[in-house]
Amino acid sequence: PQYTLFSKPLVIPPVLNPLTSYTNASTGEVFDYYEITTRPLTQQIYPNLQATNFIGYNGLVPGPTIRTTIGKRSVVRFINRGTRPLSVHLHGSPSRPVFDGWAEDLIEVSQYKDYVYPNHSPRMLWYHDHAIHITAINAFYGQAAAYIIYDPVQEAALGLPQGNYDIPMILTDRIYQSNGQLVSPQGEDTSYYGDIIHVNGVPWPYFNAEPRKYRFRILNTSLSRSYKIRFVAVNGASIPFQIIATDSGYIEHPVTASTIISGIAERYEVVVDLSAYAGQTIHVRNARDFSQNKDFARTDYVMQIIVGSTVSDTSNNNVPADLVNLNFPTDTGALTHRQFRFARNNSEWRINDIGFADVKNRILAKPIPGSTEIWKLENPSGGWAHPIHIHLVDFKVISRNGRGVEPYEAGFKDVAFLDENETAEVIARFHPWRGQYMFHCHNLVHEDGDMMAAFDVGDTKA
Ligand code: C2O
Ligand code: CU
Repeated sequence: PQYTLFSKPLVIPPVLNPLTSYTNASTGEVFDYYEITTRPLTQQIYPNLQATNFIGYNGLVPGPTIRTTIGKRSVVRFINRGTRPLSVHLHGSPSRPVFDGWAEDLIEVSQYKDYVYPNHSPRMLWYHDHAIHITAINAFYGQAAAYIIYDPVQEAALGLPQGNYDIPMILTDRIYQSNGQLVSPQGEDTSYYGDIIHVNGVPWPYFNAEPRKYRFRILNTSLSRSYKIRFVAVNGASIPFQIIATDSGYIEHPVTASTIISGIAERYEVVVDLSAYAGQTIHVRNARDFSQNKDFARTDYVMQIIVGSTVSDTSNNNVPADLVNLNFPTDTGALTHRQFRFARNNSEWRINDIGFADVKNRILAKPIPGSTEIWKLENPSGGWAHPIHIHLVDFKVISRNGRGVEPYEAGFKDVAFLDENETAEVIARFHPWRGQYMFHCHNLVHEDGDMMAAFDVGDTKA
C-alpha cells in the first residue's frame, strides 16, 4: 500500500539501562547486567491500517540500543518469549565462541541464555538474530538493534558531534500487505527487496535538525538491499560529508565524500555540516539502479532533514584532521593465503561449494592463534552482490579486483561488500580467542540458504 513520505518524525531507539552492576572482587572487572526479552509486539506503521505484528527485543523494533564504555563487560540475558528459536550475535565484537551466537546454539522458546561481551574497543556494533536457517525471518520481524561502545576520554578529546547531534540511522526495507501486516521473506530463496524504506523503524521519516554539524551512524540491517547514499540539497546538489568511522571504529583521518555504499551489516559514520542550509530541507537519497537491487517507485528516498534556523548548542562541532592511530597487520610476504568463492550452485548458496549444513566439511580454515592471514573473497557472479562478514576479527581490505580500495575502506572492517564480479583481498590477525567461528554472506536470504561456513582458530589437527 501507498505510504506518504516524510509524514512521521525520526525516532531514536531508547538506550537500555543495566538492571544492576557488580565487580568481580578478585579481578576488579566491572560487569553491567541487562535483560532483553524477545516477544511479539505491534507497531502502528500505516495510520489507516491494522497495527503491524513484529517479534522484537523488549517489544521494540529496532530493539533498544545498548550504549556502554570500553573496559566494562556486559552480561546480557536474552529471554525467548517469541514463537521461534533464536540465537544472538553481537556483530563487531570479538566474543568468546560460546557467546558469539553460533547458529546451532539455539535459545528455544521460553528458554534464556546469558551472553558475556568484552566491550574491547569503541565502535558501533549491532546485535541481531543468527538462528540456523531462520535468521532472515527473525531479523526481518524485528530482532536487530544497535550497540555502541565508546571511550569517554577519547570522545571528549575529539570534540565530534555528541548527544542530540549523534544520530543512529538504522536502515531497513520491507513490504506490507494491504491489511498492514508484513510480507514475510519466508520461502524466498534469492533475495528480499522491500518497497518501503525505514530509518529506525519509521518509513521515510523527517528529522528536524539545527544548522550545525551532525554525526550520523549509518547501519544497514536490510535482508538483501544495499544502498548508495547521498545527502542532497534543494537544488539537487550533493552535500559532501566526512567519513569518520566504519565497521570497527574510527578511521585515521576523515575522508571527504559525497556518496557512500552501505552494504548489508556495514557501518559508516559520517559528519554532515548543515550550517549552510539553515531554513532549507534536504534529503538523504539512495541511488536507483545500484548493483542488483530491485527498485520500486520511492526506493530512491531514505529520509528528509528539515534544517531550522537556530543552534542551541555550539560545542562539539569539530572534525579533527587526526582521529586515531591504527595498527594494521602487514603482509610479510610469508603469510597464509586462502581463497573463498561465494557462488550459487544448482540453486544453493555456497562457499567453495560447501554449505553450513555440511557439518563434516564446513570448517574451511584453521588459522594459527595470533597469526595473520590474507583471505581472497571472490564473487564470480554477474547476478548478485555478496557482503561478506567474518566473525571474531577486524580486517583491512587491501585490494579490490587487484586495484586499490575505496578511500573510506581505510579503516578496520568486518564486512567486505562484494559487488557483482568483484574480488576483495582482506588481511586479518586471528585473535584473541581460539575456537570455531562463522563467516558468511550477510544477505540473510543467502546466509540461510546456506552461504555460511566456519573457521577454527587453534585446531591444528589438519
Ligand atoms: Cu551480522 Cu554472522 O552476522
Ligand atoms: Cu550473498
